[in-house]
Amino acid sequence: MRILVLGSGGREHAFSWKIAQSPRCEALFIAPGNAGTAAVGTNVNLAVNDFEGIGSFVKQENIDLVVVGPEDPLVNGISNYFKADPQLAEIGLVGPSKEGAQLEGSKDFSKQFMERHQVPTARSRTFTKATLEEGLNYVSSHPLPVVLKADGLAAGKGVIIAESHEQARETLKEMLVDAKFGEASSRVVIEQYLDGIELSVFVLTDGENYKILPEAKDYKRIGEGDTGLNTGGMGAVTPVPFANASFLQKVEDRVVKPTVNGLKSEGIDYKGFIFIGLMNVNGDPYVIEYNVRMGDPETQVVLPKIKSDLLDLLLATTDGTLGQTEYTTHDEAFTTVVMVSGGYPGSYPKGYAIRGIDEVNEATVFHAGTKSGDDKAVLTSGGRVLAVTGKGDSVEKALENAYNGVSKISWQDEYHRRDIGQDILKLINQ
Ligand code: AMP
Ligand code: GLY
Repeated sequence: MRILVLGSGGREHAFSWKIAQSPRCEALFIAPGNAGTAAVGTNVNLAVNDFEGIGSFVKQENIDLVVVGPEDPLVNGISNYFKADPQLAEIGLVGPSKEGAQLEGSKDFSKQFMERHQVPTARSRTFTKATLEEGLNYVSSHPLPVVLKADGLAAGKGVIIAESHEQARETLKEMLVDAKFGEASSRVVIEQYLDGIELSVFVLTDGENYKILPEAKDYKRIGEGDTGLNTGGMGAVTPVPFANASFLQKVEDRVVKPTVNGLKSEGIDYKGFIFIGLMNVNGDPYVIEYNVRMGDPETQVVLPKIKSDLLDLLLATTDGTLGQTEYTTHDEAFTTVVMVSGGYPGSYPKGYAIRGIDEVNEATVFHAGTKSGDDKAVLTSGGRVLAVTGKGDSVEKALENAYNGVSKISWQDEYHRRDIGQDILKLINQ
């Protein structure tokens, strides 16, 4: 099998690392990749939204399977682009059609989808510039806090949790009138605040059948104790103790089944990952959002947790044989700690030399924003730079391994949270 992974983050390094372990993997390419993916495959200098370039490369290199990492090309219709070309239509592509990607690309679409299929979610209404007055009245009488969401993709920044009616009205005006998030906030979903503990559940579907993958908890805020600005994710843990069998059964019955069946009944072509962001509200799952890809950094714990050959699962997804495919997991816990450039999620300098990666033997180092410099030096080239994944018989032991790995790596102004997994340890020790 010849495989192409699209993307350049820690998620894509984890995909490549796991795919490269498959005996069926003959050649692995990553576009555009990073310094870490270059060690497990061949980086290709193509942007993830350059469909023509990707299509030509796939033909030229006889690629059998394309794995799409980020949401952007999916929302832009890479799957439809492949389907429209007789030669490319034959190639397996893990990722939904443009229509399916609307589950992430439009919050309004996803809310309406959940309503149609009775998937539990926060009550909401959608407003546009034309219904601004109505929207302002609506937020003014809404219980606090109230959640405002830009409809379209806003690089993880489009959600504002307003603590006062004044702030809610201001935010709504900024989004609709001042186009705070550009076109993405030309529609705003206003929804009820859900009070609970968050959890990410990952599903792989071939459109008919599905497999629920290991769940994970993400740490979104930059600061310790879940404070400060939102980021792409500062760490992750699997397994999550409150995701016990009875909770996961509720997730499967109330969320996963109606979602997969809903896509099918609406004739939406969906072969790929569904990442379900959930709130556990007093033991009941409510969907906060769908994403149409794997999470980053959740992938850096979910894939290590999977024992089976990932390539078998991915091929079953594109072949439509997921129903006959099983997978097993390791018993151990996995945690990842994200090391970022000082300044992130605001602006930050790039190009610092990273020291110590080779000294890490108790953990796996996944690269995100890195690039190769001269003399094999690895340089920082993004906000999230590395994700260091530890494994252990307990979450505590996994954290110890991850943090021991982190302690060996350094660069100028490096930052990471020191409290990843602490809330989970508290829950375990309760
Ligand atoms: P999203 O961009 O949809 O992932 O939202 C970002 C974060 O905002 C989520 O991870 C939650 O922590 C929070 N959030 C979103 N919607 C709600 C809600 N209805 N109630 C409480 N928190 C929410
Ligand atoms: N870590 C959250 C995400 O990938 O969206």
